[in-house]
Amino acid sequence: MTDTFNPDLLAGKVAFVAGASSGINLRVAQRYAAAGAKVMVISRSEDKIAAAARTITDAGHDAIGMACDVRDYAKVVEAFAHCRDQFGEIDIVLSGAAGNFLAPAIGMSANAFKTVIDIDLLGTFNVLHASFQHLRKPGASLVSITAGQAVRPMMYQVHACAAKAGVNQITKCLAMEWGPAGIRVNAVSPGPIGDTEGMARLAPNDDYAKASKARIPLRDWGTKDDIGDACLWLASDAARYVSGAIINVDGGSELGDAGGDALTVPER
Ligand code: HXC
Ligand code: NAP
Repeated sequence: MTDTFNPDLLAGKVAFVAGASSGINLRVAQRYAAAGAKVMVISRSEDKIAAAARTITDAGHDAIGMACDVRDYAKVVEAFAHCRDQFGEIDIVLSGAAGNFLAPAIGMSANAFKTVIDIDLLGTFNVLHASFQHLRKPGASLVSITAGQAVRPMMYQVHACAAKAGVNQITKCLAMEWGPAGIRVNAVSPGPIGDTEGMARLAPNDDYAKASKARIPLRDWGTKDDIGDACLWLASDAARYVSGAIINVDGGSELGDAGGDALTVPER
């Protein structure tokens, strides 16, 4: 947690975080709670989401967890109604549920492709759409977690690239449609983040991780706190005029490959 962290930044606010049983999204939920928000977390697994909510309540903050598959619109509607009943109007929504695996397109079944589209893309639509009637308006902040693959194609990632490209467009379309109601809609695009399921799947060994870091302008992977800080800022009034933005928190990764035959900087 950064030294400048303000424990009252989100005091009195209510946050709903989808896909929060682990990894980046759980860290974001913990961040919101530590900044004073009451937080509802959802994911598919009853046990995992209960444990995730406990990490927040054990730290002395308010949280509830509910098992909910973001592919099931009726269940998502139920989850938002429960959050509203328990905590009141919702100020902050984080849509981050995702599934991923490396697979060549030709070896991927139509159902494998559809599964990732359904979790990442349809799931994001379901979460943001179902949130609308429960949002505090004006003032609500919606954030989706996207990825650099939305704009930079990657081999063996046709499903995730297509899904996250759609998440970027959902972000921009809803920012236009819901801006007049005073709702801000943005996305955070993490680069490779250490100690996550995502990178365990995409970079399964040390050699790959080392090569990956050598191509990033800032020469390292990010941390879950880096994403937590960006999401905290977007949820706060400090970002009151930010909408329709895709915020890269990626060490410069999206700019391209900054490795290979690195330039030797001439001495002056
Ligand atoms: C090829 C695969 C596969 C693999 C599953 N499938 N894994 N195909 N290679 N490695 C196929 C199955 O054979 C099946 O197709 C279809 O996908 C659905 O599989 P299920 O296991 O029934 O799906 P489900 O139980 O819904 O699980 C979803 C999942 C799973 C995505 C497959 O891995 C999961 O639950 N993931 C959640 C955690 C996760 O992925 N975290 C990382 C997110 S990070 P058939 O045809 O056989 O029926 C992330 C990274 C970085 O997104 C960002 C990049 C964009
Ligand atoms: P993670 O720990 O696997 O997080 C994914 C979460 O989504 C889990 O809590 C999982 O919980 C939940 N989930 C999966 N399918 C769901 C469904 N159908 N309904 C509801 N919840 C579901 O992975 P992560 O690496 O931290 O990734 C988090 C987010 O960051 C994702 O959006 C990912 O695309 C994005 N991202 C990650 C990286 C990275 O470097 N890790 C880079 C770019 C973008 P259950 O299993 O309990 O359902």
